[in-house]
Amino acid sequence: MSKGTFYITTPIYYPSDKLHIGHTYCTVATDAMARFKRMQGYDVMFLTGTDEHGQKIEEKAAARGMTPKQFVDEIIEGPGGILDLWKLMNISYDRFIRTTDDYHVAAVQRIFRKLYEKGEIYKGAYKGLYCTPCESFWTESQLVDGKCPDCGREVKYAEEEAYFFRLSNYTQKILDLYEKQPDFLEPASRMNEMVSNFLRPGLDDLCVSRTSFKWGIPVDFDPGHVVYVWVDALTNYITALGYENDRYNDYAKYWPADVHFVGKEIVRFHAIIWPAILMALGEPLPKKIFGHGWLLLDGGKMSKSKGNVVDPTVLAARYGVDALRYFLLRDFPFGSDGSFSNELLISRINTDLANDLGNLVSRTVLMVEKYFGGTLPADRQAGPEDAALTEAAAALRGEVEAEMERFAFQNALSLIFKVTSRANKYIDETSPWVLAKDEANKARLAAVMYNLLETIRICTVLLQPFMPQTCAEIFRQIGAVESLRTWDSIAAFGALPADVTVQKGPAIFPRIDMAKELAELEKLTQNN
Ligand code: MSP
Repeated sequence: MSKGTFYITTPIYYPSDKLHIGHTYCTVATDAMARFKRMQGYDVMFLTGTDEHGQKIEEKAAARGMTPKQFVDEIIEGPGGILDLWKLMNISYDRFIRTTDDYHVAAVQRIFRKLYEKGEIYKGAYKGLYCTPCESFWTESQLVDGKCPDCGREVKYAEEEAYFFRLSNYTQKILDLYEKQPDFLEPASRMNEMVSNFLRPGLDDLCVSRTSFKWGIPVDFDPGHVVYVWVDALTNYITALGYENDRYNDYAKYWPADVHFVGKEIVRFHAIIWPAILMALGEPLPKKIFGHGWLLLDGGKMSKSKGNVVDPTVLAARYGVDALRYFLLRDFPFGSDGSFSNELLISRINTDLANDLGNLVSRTVLMVEKYFGGTLPADRQAGPEDAALTEAAAALRGEVEAEMERFAFQNALSLIFKVTSRANKYIDETSPWVLAKDEANKARLAAVMYNLLETIRICTVLLQPFMPQTCAEIFRQIGAVESLRTWDSIAAFGALPADVTVQKGPAIFPRIDMAKELAELEKLTQNN
């Protein structure tokens, strides 16, 4: 039975260049969350997609002698494009929206008209400082050192006839929202930023149409204007459910979203502009916005120009998709920035995956093969070392659940790996190789093996959202059939059948020679 619905989204990505590991970060986090919720029994809607309009795309396409649509099609659908990347990364999205999809275009036009007819949008003239890459107008006071406060690039004076959204009417309403619902935007520090940088000074009306370029959704009642790309983009979260269109019919079922995951630089759009638009439309607000941090490279923002080291395709080919997924969510607290480096990635693989988990699985399976020919006898004898392990394993599900509820992926993973370490320690404490010397200890040895297999199983069930392929292989090796891979199956310790049969397999994570690997990466970078 379904526990209810869970609607989660990633930002929709600009198909202006190949995506790098930083983009992959949010999508992997969303995927882990979606898989976790599905495992718990929720009816999940996981939405991702691409944000395809705007001047930047128009200019890039022109520079390549292509139409904007040809240009974005190639980046999205072409070989090695965004769809291929999500397939490679095992991203289990339920729906993929492209803002060039007909149904979205028509829905945005209806939304824009509705806001205009309600008086929430009016026609005026815009004079201001414009950042082309960010497609944002800024006031003098918002600039940082005279530059765009989001990206740090030059802004230029621009003036155009335009439509405006009455965002200034929403300052107090958004402040009230934050006060009434302090967990609307997390982490809390992001809410403080919104309040002090934008809300306390008071919001200005927002320019929501452009005439200076063509590549956008035309305002249908004034076709010289195209809809501001952020209004077009933000509404994807509802048009993809069928809001103001017939393509889908899930709006009543999934809206309001349970959470929008977004990077910190686009929190302003999601935590101020988006709720204001929804209030203006008279629609419910998302339950939560989570603004995650950035993966930094050498202390700065990542970009594709940094080459192979940030290319998720290259990294996945070298270390495996699951290792990469694990690393992204294990090394960095989701709400803060983190410094990406190849050393960190390799050392995380070696310590947690090869040494800790990998060793535990291979040692255990090998011992069951060696001491019992692969199948455990049903006769088991408990021992004084057991409780510490079995209690930790039994409590794990609830502890991990609590961390996942807070989107604390790092803590969730760290709890699981505490238990795998505990299991490795249990092997040392019980010394199975000593027990194996005396036939009289057979029942005790069987209990030790059983406890290890069952602990591995519990950990593996909880690791599935993070490393789906590897977990399937571990289950195969420890003899856990489909019904032993579920959320319900780990409610208590002991669901694994007493006479389980294991199957030896390849090492799940071979150890990487750090020095050799770093030298090879160096070579790769130079040849790039
Ligand atoms: N198109 C907008 C989003 C519209 S949502 C209605 C956009 N696209 S983007 O492609 O530039 O960025 C997509 C997401 O990737 C953002 O949340 C951004 O924060 C994230 N990241 C881009 N580089 C990143 C890192 N280096 N690290 C973590 N996330 C990063 O913004």
